[in-house]
Formats: sequence, C-alpha cells, structure tokens
Amino acid sequence: MNHVFYKGEDSSRPTLLLLHGTGGNEHDLVGLGKEIDISANILSVRGNVLENGMPRFFKRLAEGVFDLEDLQFRTEELKSFIDEAAKNYEFDRDNVVAIGYSNGANIAANLLFEYKNVLKGAILHHPMVPRRGVELPRMSKTPVFIGAGKNDHMCPATESEELQNLLQEAGAMVELYWHAYGHQLTQDEVQAAKQWYHLKF
Ligand code: MLT
Repeated sequence: MNHVFYKGEDSSRPTLLLLHGTGGNEHDLVGLGKEIDISANILSVRGNVLENGMPRFFKRLAEGVFDLEDLQFRTEELKSFIDEAAKNYEFDRDNVVAIGYSNGANIAANLLFEYKNVLKGAILHHPMVPRRGVELPRMSKTPVFIGAGKNDHMCPATESEELQNLLQEAGAMVELYWHAYGHQLTQDEVQAAKQWYHLKF
C-alpha cells in the first residue's frame, strides 16, 4: 500500500497508524499524528480504492452504505500490510495505535471488529458502525476514543452510541467525546484525543 513511515525518537512509544478520510492521502494526517505524539513512529497509509479519483479504504455502494465484501477484503489487506510494515521498519507489532478520520476511522473500527489484538488502541474521529450482526472478538480493555459531532449528517448521534456500545460489550474501554458541530474534525476534539491518549499510552 502507498504509505509514509517516520521513525519516532522513542521506540517505547506506540506506532501511530494514520488512516485518512475519503479523498485524502498518506500525507494528510501526519501533522495530526505528530500533534498527538511527537516521539512516536508514524505509519500513514493511503487507501487502495478510488471513488471518482478519491482514495478510500474500501468501496461503498452509496454514502454511508458500505460494500461489505470489499470492506472485509480491504480490512484483511490492511492487516497484512501492518504485519509486513512491522517487520520491514522494525517496530513493535503489538504496540500499534490507529488514528482514523471518517472513512479511515471506519476501517480502523472494522479492524477491531474482525481481528483480536490487532491494535493496542484507536482514536476514531467520526466513525460509523462498520457492520452489524457479527460477533466481535474479545478486547481486553482496548482503549478506544470516539470523536463525534452532535450535528454530523454523515453519522447520526445514535450511531456513535451504537458503536460505543458494541465495542464496550466486547470489552473495550471507550471514551465518547462530543462536539456540537458536524462531520469535521475540530481542534477541541484533537486536544481531547491527545489528552486521552497520554493518559492511556
Ligand atoms: C464512509 O464511506 O466510510 C463514510 O461514509 C465516511 C466517508 O465518506 O468517508
């Protein structure tokens, strides 16, 4: 997968896996990753799917309606990529924290839905429920931060709560942060995520 890797100064810190939103690329969230943890490794990836020229992490049938077959295939592809990258760049595979926005948050959530111990934790900015009616792997208190907007047209408030519940029922420790706006990532939300991250990792 297209990606950039920046080695952090402190190898005991997590590796941040950065996953952009629709139309983004591997460079978009590097600044955000550095804001969250300046000493961590950064592995920032570009989604392999193109929708009208816009990179995404998996196909969708319409806005908010996912192609579940492709989602599963792409989630496996991303997992294999992380496994390989850990060998190539010699970082600790068991210490990876995902930071995703929108479409990137959705595939990060689906990694958690599909694979046990795939991430040490996750910051999900404006995620949706990636799929329903499936049994989630047990998560041993995996810390997850969800940033949500009370007026997010893409993701109604009930969907953020539903995702929180599903993850919590599987054993994750979820913090749900609300802002009063829409689908956008706000500075306050980033600062809340940063504070949370430094308490957990
Ligand atoms: C998705 O397709 O993952 C969501 O609708 C969010 C987005 O458009 O990126």
